[in-house]
Amino acid sequence: MQQKNSAASRRKMVAGNWKMHGDFALVRQFNEQLRQSDLQFVDVLVCPPFPYLHAFAQADFALGAQNLSAQSQGAHTGEVAASMLLENGCNYVLVGHSERRSDQQESNQIVANKAQQAIDAGLTPIVCIGEDLQVRQQGQLFDFLAEQLDAVLDKLGVADFAKSIVAYEPVWAIGTGQTASPEQAQEVHGFIRQHLAKQDAQLASQLRILYGGSVKADNAKALFAQPDIDGGLIGGASLKIDEFIKICQAAD
Ligand code: PGA
Repeated sequence: MQQKNSAASRRKMVAGNWKMHGDFALVRQFNEQLRQSDLQFVDVLVCPPFPYLHAFAQADFALGAQNLSAQSQGAHTGEVAASMLLENGCNYVLVGHSERRSDQQESNQIVANKAQQAIDAGLTPIVCIGEDLQVRQQGQLFDFLAEQLDAVLDKLGVADFAKSIVAYEPVWAIGTGQTASPEQAQEVHGFIRQHLAKQDAQLASQLRILYGGSVKADNAKALFAQPDIDGGLIGGASLKIDEFIKICQAAD
């Protein structure tokens, strides 16, 4: 029963990653308009900057953070622990977004440790992986992605990895307006599932894999129609409530 019909059993998710954007006015728009949008078959998630989390706590869509500490507590000035996110209404947290991998030099090991912190606290980590253009052009795409995945899989083990979500976000598509074609994205999502199936077939068939990188209202439907794409992680287009709702509707 777990194996067959797996694509249909994976509920679609659309997650908005506000990055370092937004204000209380945008929080209000989301609280008011998402509630009225009557989305039924898609999980909607908003990941605002930390200071706005509490303003969403009563919302009827899911809430996530964009980052967390690799430690559970202690003398780590400026860091935020998984347990604090949970207390502020989060159920999800992004880990290993490419901007953190490049700006904050987060290694695969740090990303894996953060995913473990999330799991230990009862949060769902959304593990972001993705190659830059050079890696793709040099033909190292699949090896590179396998290494990013394996670092987290080795740390978490199959049972905890199965509680996670993966987001495939090619770096060359993030914020550039140049989205991966549905075929390009499907090729990689299919690879991710095959790679995970070598460890555990059920994990591979049940894991939700989101696509991210210049998803917009007008390209979302074609991407979400691919058999191994279970929704999207949306950056720029998640800052406009009308556009974001249209993307959610494309998955609904
Ligand atoms: P984008 O960002 O939609 O603006 O390309 C996606 C992301 O970084 O999560």
